[in-house]
Amino acid sequence: MHACKMMAGHNKRNIILMHKYEMGRLLGQGTFAKVYHARNTRTSVSVAIKVIDKGKVVKVGLVDQIKREISAMKLVRHPNVVQLNEVIATKTKIYFVLEYVKGGELLAKVKRGRLKEDVARKYFQQLICALDFCHSRGVYHRDLKLENLLLDENSDLKVSDFGLSALAECRRQDGLLHTTCGTPAYVAPEVINRKGYDGAKADIWSCGVILFVLLAGYLPFYDKNLIDLYKKIDSADFRCPTWFSTHVRRLLLRILDPTPGTRISIEKIMENPWFRQGLDHANLLLRYNLKTNDAPQVDTDKNEDFDPPSTNITTDSKQEDEKKPANMNAFDIISHLSSGLDLSGLFQESDKKTESKFTSTNTSSAIISKIEDIAKDLRLKLTKKDGGLLKMEASKPGRKGVMRIDAEIFEVSPNFHLVEIKKTNGDTLEYQKVMHQEMRPALKDIVWAWQGEQLKQQQEQQQ
Ligand code: ADE
Repeated sequence: MHACKMMAGHNKRNIILMHKYEMGRLLGQGTFAKVYHARNTRTSVSVAIKVIDKGKVVKVGLVDQIKREISAMKLVRHPNVVQLNEVIATKTKIYFVLEYVKGGELLAKVKRGRLKEDVARKYFQQLICALDFCHSRGVYHRDLKLENLLLDENSDLKVSDFGLSALAECRRQDGLLHTTCGTPAYVAPEVINRKGYDGAKADIWSCGVILFVLLAGYLPFYDKNLIDLYKKIDSADFRCPTWFSTHVRRLLLRILDPTPGTRISIEKIMENPWFRQGLDHANLLLRYNLKTNDAPQVDTDKNEDFDPPSTNITTDSKQEDEKKPANMNAFDIISHLSSGLDLSGLFQESDKKTESKFTSTNTSSAIISKIEDIAKDLRLKLTKKDGGLLKMEASKPGRKGVMRIDAEIFEVSPNFHLVEIKKTNGDTLEYQKVMHQEMRPALKDIVWAWQGEQLKQQQEQQQ
C-alpha cells in the first residue's frame, strides 16, 4: 500500500485506503505526520487520517512515542478530545483514523483577531476540562499549543495530537517525566531546563500561554533569539496588555509561575471565580459522567451516550470487514506494542492456547504477591525480574521438558494493570491444565476481566 506516495501526486482521486476510506485533501502537516481528509466509502462519514511514516519514526527513535500515542489516545474519550477510531498499519505506514473536526484550527480564528474574554474563557474551560480528564487517567499531552486545538461545527474545542503524551507506566520512579519536547513558546521552564518534570504541571503552563494568546492575539513570550526566549520563559517575563481584566491577570500569574511546585493545579483553576463564570451546569456534570474504557467503575447504564467505539486494527492482508481480526482494546495494544514497533505483531492473534491476559484494578504489588502465593501453592519456583516480569518454573520436567511460565505486569495507571501470562517452555496440554484448573481460579480475586473473551465468560469468572 503506497497511499501516501500516490496522494502526493496529481491524481488524488479514487485513492481508497483499505477499501474503506476515500482519501481527500491534505489538512495539515507536521514533522513526522500528514493529516488528510477522508470519507468512509460505506457510510460517507468524514474522518481525518493521520499518516505516519514508520521509517522516519524508527530512524529518529520515536518508536516509544508512537506506541504511547496509540495507547494514550485509546484511553481517553472525552467530548473535547479528538477521538481515535481506528489504527491501520501497513509495512511502511501507520494510519490513525481520527474523528474529523469540521471547524478548523482555533489558531486561524485568533489570527483574525484576539478573542473576547467570554469566548476565550469558554475555550479555556473546555481545554481545562479535557486536560483534567486526561490527567486523571495518567495521560499528559506535553505539546499543547494553539495549533493542536481544533473547533467542531458547534464551535466547541477538541484537543488533538496526543502524540507526545505519556502513560503513567513511563513515569520515572521520582514521578517525573524526563523527555524534552514541545514548541518553545508554549513550553514550561522546567521542561526547557531539562530537569525532570511533572507532565501535569507542564501542561498547565502551556494552557496559561494559550489563554494569554487567545486574549492578547500574540504570545506572552517571544524573542527572535532562542536563548533570550528561554530566559524570558525561565523568569516568566511577560506583560499583560491593558485590556486584560484584573481577574484574568491574577489567574495568569498563578498559571505562568516558573516554579512548578507553586504553580496552580487544575483543581484550583476549576475553583477560580474567573474560570467558573458562565460555566454551565451541563459542562460540570459531563466531567463526572464521562466514560473511558479504562474506568472499571463506570456505570454503563448512565453512560450510554459515551459508549466508546471499538478500535479496529487492520492490516494490508485483511481488507474486508469480515476478515478483520478481533477488535483490540488499549490493553491489547499496549501489551503487543511492548514487543517493539513491529506493528505486524499486532495482527497476529496471540496463541490462546499458551497465552492469557487479564486486567486488574489492584496495585502491582498486590498482583505480584497474589502470583507469588499461587506459585508457592503450585510448587513453581518464582523469580522476579525488572519491569514487572515474573518467571515461574516447575520443579520437575514434564512431557516436553520443564514447564516455564512468564507473567508480565504492565501499568496502565497505578491502580489498573494488564497482566500477560504465557508459557515459555514445556508441554502445552500440561500448561493448559495448570492454567485452567489451578492458576485462573486462584487469580479470580484480582482479575477484573480476562482479555479477548466474551462477556459471558467474564461473568462466569467473577461468580
Ligand atoms: N487537522 C488535524 N487533525 C484534524 C482532525 N482530526 N480533523 C480536522 N482537521 C484536522
